[in-house]
Amino acid sequence: MDGAATVSRVWGQAQEWWWAHGAPRLNDLVVDNSVIRVYRQRVCADLHGQVVELGFGAGLNVPFYPSAVTSVVAVEPSDLAWARAQRRVAGQRVPVTRAGLRGTRPDVPDESADCVVSCFTLCTIPDVDAALRDVVRVLRPGGTFHFLEHGLAPDASVRAWQHRLEPVHCVLFGGCRLTRPIQGLVAASDLVLDEVHTEYAPVPTFLRPWTYGYRGRAHKPARAA
Ligand SMILES: C[S@@+](CC[C@H](N)C(=O)[O-])C[C@H]1O[C@@H](n2cnc3c(N)ncnc32)[C@H](O)[C@@H]1O
Repeated sequence: MDGAATVSRVWGQAQEWWWAHGAPRLNDLVVDNSVIRVYRQRVCADLHGQVVELGFGAGLNVPFYPSAVTSVVAVEPSDLAWARAQRRVAGQRVPVTRAGLRGTRPDVPDESADCVVSCFTLCTIPDVDAALRDVVRVLRPGGTFHFLEHGLAPDASVRAWQHRLEPVHCVLFGGCRLTRPIQGLVAASDLVLDEVHTEYAPVPTFLRPWTYGYRGRAHKPARAA
């Protein structure tokens, strides 16, 4: 084996280790703060019935599930994130069960959910268009998709920094991209976009490549009679 192949193999193993053991902890450090908790409360406010949470992570939305939620299916591929979620899940009023991925697809039955919620996950899932097709698949007709995501900013200078920083950010944060145009991706899916609020989070401006947020709701059209 030549030197380049060895370096590539070791780099691949190091990244795999970091994504399994380091990135979930780093993610929690960054997305568990008082600014983001306000947005979490808003995006969770209208959840009801049977909910699927895509990219459950360490369960940081659990405290914000309203009383109208009857059960939650947590789609989370990381064993470490799921283990870290247990202290929030334990003793909750709402039963939370874990679903894995079958290949790249959430192992969740078709049309089983009243709502799907995704926070800071459409940035990370490798095939985001396929993920949105799965959102449509698991929602019952009329069901709603609630999202809180960061992504491509409207300002050219911020976008330029997002493109520059993305390769390093992606390695550090378990595959997370900075440049996904979340509103356009949802609008291009088979969901109907009902509302979307976009803004930079109220934090120092040098953080803008990371803090342009999209919070919104879309629905799966009811079947024609
Ligand atoms: C940045 S974290 C966000 C976690 C959580 N939603 C939150 O708001 O704190 C992204 C999560 O997406 C999960 N993830 C990665 N690929 C996924 C996939 N294909 N389907 C569902 N979740 C995935 C990761 O394991 C990680 O927990």
